[in-house]
Amino acid sequence: MAEIIIVPYAAAAGSLVADAIVRLIERNREAVLGLATGSTPLPVYQALEPRLKGIDVSRVRGFALDEYVGLDPAHPESYRSVIQREVVEPLGLDPALIRVPDGSLDGIEHAGEEYEEAILAAGGVDLQLLGIGTDGHIGFNEPGSSFASLTRVKTLTEQTRDDNARFFDSVDDVPRHCITQGLGTILRARHLVLLAFGAGKAEAVAGAVEGPLTASLPGSAIQLHPRATVVVDEAAASRLRFADYYRYTYENKPAWQAI
Ligand code: F6R
Repeated sequence: MAEIIIVPYAAAAGSLVADAIVRLIERNREAVLGLATGSTPLPVYQALEPRLKGIDVSRVRGFALDEYVGLDPAHPESYRSVIQREVVEPLGLDPALIRVPDGSLDGIEHAGEEYEEAILAAGGVDLQLLGIGTDGHIGFNEPGSSFASLTRVKTLTEQTRDDNARFFDSVDDVPRHCITQGLGTILRARHLVLLAFGAGKAEAVAGAVEGPLTASLPGSAIQLHPRATVVVDEAAASRLRFADYYRYTYENKPAWQAI
């Protein structure tokens, strides 16, 4: 099963995961990062910024999980813009080595396949950051997504559009379609790191970690992965049945065993 780490607040999760990413880059200057957008990964990116000072990141590569379809890439909330603003610029990465799925309508029917090829050509993702939607999605794999799915166009649920309306002027401006790495794509990454903060994520986290393996809760796919780490705050952990065991396990973790 996944390793579950319950932290007191989001910044603690950011530090923990940023340390793991720094170790990865120190081992491999050409590390391939799987990048998430939304609010959840921000503490990781913020913690990474000072930690990467003085470390050569010029060859680090990255693949975003998803993108809205039909949104102008120059729109401030396109994931291309978000990745540039929140990740590439502050961390000093080479923009030419950071990919985001192409959500432009022109050629969208081939964009998924091309993205899969690019990930494979890079040798696969070393560490994939994940958030989780209140409906249990990872990437934008909404309920019903196949565990074998690859990058493709999906329709966002109304719940996801409502959740993401905070980034736009109104919910009507949230695109209806997205292009997202599939659950099969995500499961190929060598290490999954799923983060979740706040009570609004508690049910999705419990379903993903302890619920049955089901396409109805796509986050449960992480149970199939041999190396998955879940880092949650107390509120997001509040529905976990075995929370005490996870705390005990983490407190008694051998010092040599990093996340
Ligand atoms: C973002 C992504 C989504 C988000 C999820 C949670 O690239 O793939 O799965 O991680 O919607 O969003 P936040 O973090 O904004 O609550």
